[in-house]
Amino acid sequence: MKISLVSADPAGLNVDALAIPVVTGQKLGAAALDLDAAMGGVLSEMVVNAEFRARIHEVLPIPAQGKIAPRRVILYGLGALHDLDGQRLRSAHHELVRASRTWGYKRLAILRTEPLGTDTLKAVVEGCVLGTFERRSRQTGAEPERREIDEVLIAGFGAGREREVIAAQENGEATNRAREWQNAPPNELTPDALAQEATRIAQRHNLEIEVLGPKELKSGGYNLLLGVGEGSAKPPRLIRLRHHGNHQLETHDGPILALIGKGITFDTGGISLKNPEHMSQMKGDMAGAAAVLSAIEVIASRKLPLDVIAVIAAAENMPGPAAQRPGDVLVSADGKTVEIVNTDAEGRLVLADALTHALRNGATHLIDLATLTGAATVAIGHAASAAVSNDDEFWSVVDRASREAGDRVWRLPIYADYRILLRSQIADLRNSEYGEAGTIMGGMFIAEFAGGKPWAHIDIAASSWNTNTELTTVLRGPSGAGTRLCIELAELMTPRPTDSWPPPVSERTRAAGR
Ligand code: BES
Ligand code: ZN
Ligand code: MN
Repeated sequence: MKISLVSADPAGLNVDALAIPVVTGQKLGAAALDLDAAMGGVLSEMVVNAEFRARIHEVLPIPAQGKIAPRRVILYGLGALHDLDGQRLRSAHHELVRASRTWGYKRLAILRTEPLGTDTLKAVVEGCVLGTFERRSRQTGAEPERREIDEVLIAGFGAGREREVIAAQENGEATNRAREWQNAPPNELTPDALAQEATRIAQRHNLEIEVLGPKELKSGGYNLLLGVGEGSAKPPRLIRLRHHGNHQLETHDGPILALIGKGITFDTGGISLKNPEHMSQMKGDMAGAAAVLSAIEVIASRKLPLDVIAVIAAAENMPGPAAQRPGDVLVSADGKTVEIVNTDAEGRLVLADALTHALRNGATHLIDLATLTGAATVAIGHAASAAVSNDDEFWSVVDRASREAGDRVWRLPIYADYRILLRSQIADLRNSEYGEAGTIMGGMFIAEFAGGKPWAHIDIAASSWNTNTELTTVLRGPSGAGTRLCIELAELMTPRPTDSWPPPVSERTRAAGR
């Protein structure tokens, strides 16, 4: 799908449909009044008469009957203005594109008008790109329900902003790539297949890559990752990519950001076997890895002057004759002993070793993304990722990245009081406790392996896959949660000559400048 900015009179655009955003309880925006007049006032009539209420996801096509060049005008709703944040804005445009695809429109134009500010270009473009997502069907001979749009023309955002459009389109496509990986069947997307995807990315962008298999993992002491993979015939992989950007700086020195992804290609729970109802979703237990992989591809293609490492802990959590047992004690890569109480709490185990690997490779800042706890759905639900962090300053940057990326995260606390719940009778740590604060406890386990460096943990168990069909304004199915967050974080952490760390909060993202 091609996306272009236009400055021509929208009434003269040769398109199937021209879309106009409307907010609940407000009149048609000023930029749409000429069109309304040309159409004999039918647009404002629909709004004033409240036949079109501008609820979010409401889309109303109106035939133009030759009065203007576009064949149709679409009124599309953004909902109430005070509810409108980056995520809902993207969702509204996602829906606009989906509806247009259902109706078979090939050329779509969008007219920015009040109350949509000129600073929403990124959200508009990203939302549209998200709306092009189509899961790869394996049905034989099935006709797709929605067709593809060839071109989206965007009017009313001012001139000279092509680079912003390109960056936003990249962000949206990276998110869709993560969604595709989440959807991939677990017999195809194995730990080794994830490593091959990483290798392809490395080749495309000339990145440093290293893939550790069982032999190397053993000599490196990555026993927690090995233990999780033990029950599977498909051996685990510890994948590391590195984008070198710091050499572009005068000082050749700067932060080294590690993006760490949980890559459990299928989670049966292991010997602590899951119920069948909860198991079918578990092909998506590599959503963290998917986000990290697609993010570093964008970071590398933009040649950001920042060193970024991606570490993916890939394994399949299966029961089997060699599987680890509840009661096993293992020595982690950084030397801590861990009692395995529940083999289904495998994410924190593989991440612990992955953090150690990132630190061994010089990481100064760590962010991990993981479908870690079902409790995240209870605590926050599907509309945002849950997070914990050990560093307020680093967190403020992650939080800003979240808002600018329209990729919601909400921080939960870490309480010293709870640390006692991580203790084992026999080892330094246990991997699970039965009881309260599940999402926090998962994060607190991982925190033990952050080496005192600024670290944030993003639990995407709920946000990466919305199973609640009533929740219509949150992407259904795989969402690619965390992808845009990581890209934006790298952008915000990129030092510039005059920079002080952390960058001032008032400053805007520089995706525009690239
Ligand atoms: N992959 C699951 C978490 C999950 C649940 C992701 C639902 C997506 C949807 C994780 O490995 C897991 O099994 N977590 C356990 C932890 C518990 C044993 C401490 C959970 O949440 O039940
Ligand atoms: Zn899991
Ligand atoms: Mn599990």
